[in-house]
Amino acid sequence: MPDVYRGPHRGDDAGIRYAEAVSNAAQDAEENGGVAAFFCESAVSCGGQIILPPGYLHEAYAAVRAAGGVCVADEVQTGFGRAGSHFWMFETQDVVPDIVTLGKPIGNGHPLGAVITTLEIAASFANGMEYFNTFGGNPVSCAAGLAVLDVIRDEELQQNAHEVGAYLKAKLIELKNRHSLVGDVRGEGLFMGIELVHDRLTLEPAGREAAILIEQMKEKGILLSTDGPFHNVIKIKPPLVFSRRDADELVAKMGVVLTDPQRA
Ligand SMILES: Cc1ncc(COP(=O)(O)O)c(C=O)c1O
Repeated sequence: MPDVYRGPHRGDDAGIRYAEAVSNAAQDAEENGGVAAFFCESAVSCGGQIILPPGYLHEAYAAVRAAGGVCVADEVQTGFGRAGSHFWMFETQDVVPDIVTLGKPIGNGHPLGAVITTLEIAASFANGMEYFNTFGGNPVSCAAGLAVLDVIRDEELQQNAHEVGAYLKAKLIELKNRHSLVGDVRGEGLFMGIELVHDRLTLEPAGREAAILIEQMKEKGILLSTDGPFHNVIKIKPPLVFSRRDADELVAKMGVVLTDPQRA
């Protein structure tokens, strides 16, 4: 896990160091029959809202391709403008994947998924192998997907993710400055994680406190959830229409809960 907060590599060269692990795995695999593919979310969602360190995908992709594999970016949770600065989160790593997988937000609730790839890789499936899918290519779903793209463009939702994301992150960092339980605030656009710890030096995870916090926030009408191997990372991935007022409400209520969890 290329985690610069909790993992073994935390310095400026962390991206390169974590990519070495991918390179080693690719070399091992090459010696044992070959590498098919390297799958990586462009920011690791359920692993704890991990923002990949600079250079990670660039180096990892180079190593996988050198070993004969293709590189797959999973943009199910991270794509469609959520990153704010870019439409796809992989662009923040300055790479071009061979295959991109898309789901959930592509249909804004309508069940839809898609795979995007190069002509060469697509053509390699046209070899007589049978691929069957009951709902594949459904024109109603495709119409829903196209409508979603129009709304993202017309309502400037990527720009909104960029602006409101930066605003929310600054406010969450203020919370971190006031509450020692908040060990880390990280994110890009409206893809945000708040890691709760008992001790900022040992990083002892505060999973129980995270569970209590989301329960108390639910009482206040705000639905959050936890992620990460220790269930101590509060994930914030709101709809891209999320406003500054929504951000203010979220942070104010979280501030109350963090100040006095017993009475909140
Ligand atoms: C990161 C990620 N990838 C893939 C999937 C699976 O998506 P689908 O159900 O559209 O196949 C999910 C679903 O939760 C996901 O969160």
